[in-house]
Formats: sequence, C-alpha cells, structure tokens
Amino acid sequence: MAEVVIVGSRQEAGVLVADEIARLVRARPDAVLGLATGSTPLSVYEALRSRLADVDVSRVRGFALDEYVGLDPAHPESYRSVIAREVVEPLGLDPERVQVPDGRTAGIETAGEAYERAIVAAGGVDLQILGIGTDGHIGFNEPGSSFASLTRVKTLTPETRADNARFFDGIDEVPRHCITQGLGTILRARHLVLLAFGEAKAPAIAGAVEGPVTAMLPGSAVQLHPHVTVVLDEAAASRLQRADYYRDAWANKPAWQGL
Ligand code: F6R
Repeated sequence: MAEVVIVGSRQEAGVLVADEIARLVRARPDAVLGLATGSTPLSVYEALRSRLADVDVSRVRGFALDEYVGLDPAHPESYRSVIAREVVEPLGLDPERVQVPDGRTAGIETAGEAYERAIVAAGGVDLQILGIGTDGHIGFNEPGSSFASLTRVKTLTPETRADNARFFDGIDEVPRHCITQGLGTILRARHLVLLAFGEAKAPAIAGAVEGPVTAMLPGSAVQLHPHVTVVLDEAAASRLQRADYYRDAWANKPAWQGL
C-alpha cells in the first residue's frame, strides 16, 4: 500500500520530498530523477535549491514525464522550457543529462521508443515525482490508458486542456496531443512520489489511493507499485476514508524507516 503523508502546506510537502531527493543524490551521485511539470512539483524544486547547493549534481540524470506535441520547443510553456527554467538552471544540473520527450512532429512516430531506450540506458528512474490531473491522469496518461503502456503519443482530454489553459492564452492555444511516459514506464521507476494539493484534486486522489485499480483512473496504477509515497495537503486528502489511519501511521513511523 502507498504511504500517505498529510502535511500542512505545499511548502511543507516540498521540503519533505526535497529532503528525500537530496538524501538520494548524496548516496548516489548519478541518481536518475523522474521530473514532473505543472504547478504541483514547484515547491519541491524550490526547496531543492538550497538542499542541493552544496551537493555535487554533475552526474545526476533527469527524465521528464511528458511533452506537448507540435509546440515549438522554445515556447515558454513547452515542457523542455519549463524543465530548463524550473529544474535544470536553478539546481545547476547538466542540461545534457536531462531529457524531455521529443514532441516535434518530425520523427514523432519513433520518439517514444527512443525515449524508452534512453531511460533503460540510464539504468531506470530512481525516484519519480508525479502530480495528478483532476481527471486522474498521471503523466499525460488519460483515462483508459493501458497499465502496460510505454512512452507514446496521447490525445489530451478537454478537461486537461481546460486545466492547462492557464499556462497559455486560452484553451485554443493548448496543444491537443502530447507524448508521455506510459503507465508501464512510470511503474518501472523504483520509488514513486505522488503529490497533490487543493480541493480540486481530492476526488482523483481518493480514487487513486483507495478506489479500485482501473484504467479509468490512471493514478490508481500506483496501487500496483511496491514503493509509493503520496504527499497531500489537507484539502487534497479531504475525501480519503482512511485519513486517520495514515496520520497515525506517519506520526508513529519508526525512525529507521526512510520515506
Ligand atoms: C506534468 C504531468 C501531469 C501533471 C498534472 C497535474 O508533467 O505529467 O500529470 O502532474 O496534470 O498538473 P498540475 O500540477 O499543474 O495541477
């Protein structure tokens, strides 16, 4: 079962996860990080700045979850640009060692396979940061995605396009297609860290953590993974039936157990 940690704020969540990532990088200087974009992980990246300031990150590798298809890579909201701006530059990572799926239309047929090969060649992802969509997607694996899926092109749902319109000049500017790591790809990572904040995420989180495992709620794939940490604020946790148990387990966690 996933370990569910309910914290007071997204800043507190950022500190908790950043501490774990810093611990990982100290122990394994060539750690492979799975990087999410969107609003959710920003507090993690923010907290990582000070925590990695005195750590050698020259060998750290990173793989983004997804990218829009057909959006100019230089567009400020392409995930290539977002990862450069929010992660690579502030943390001082080597840009050559951080990859984002190639969403350019020329060669898109083989971009998924190439990305899978690159992840395997790097030795797989050690810690994968995840957010969740209001429709339950992780990565851009929209409802109905196969649990065995690997990196490939998907069509975004109207709900996801509406949610992401805030990053663009309106919904019409949001690309319709994306290239995303599959649920199968995500499940190969050694540690999944799923974060969610705010009331709007509460139904998706309740379904992902406590609902049936179903392709209709792709986030429920985390129930198939042996090492998952779910970090929530009170609002995102508000529909969990077993919240008291999760709080009790966290408050009484043996000191020798890591995250
Ligand atoms: C981003 C990603 C998505 C987002 C999700 C939540 O790389 O894969 O699954 O994590 O859409 O987005 P935010 O965090 O903006 O609410």
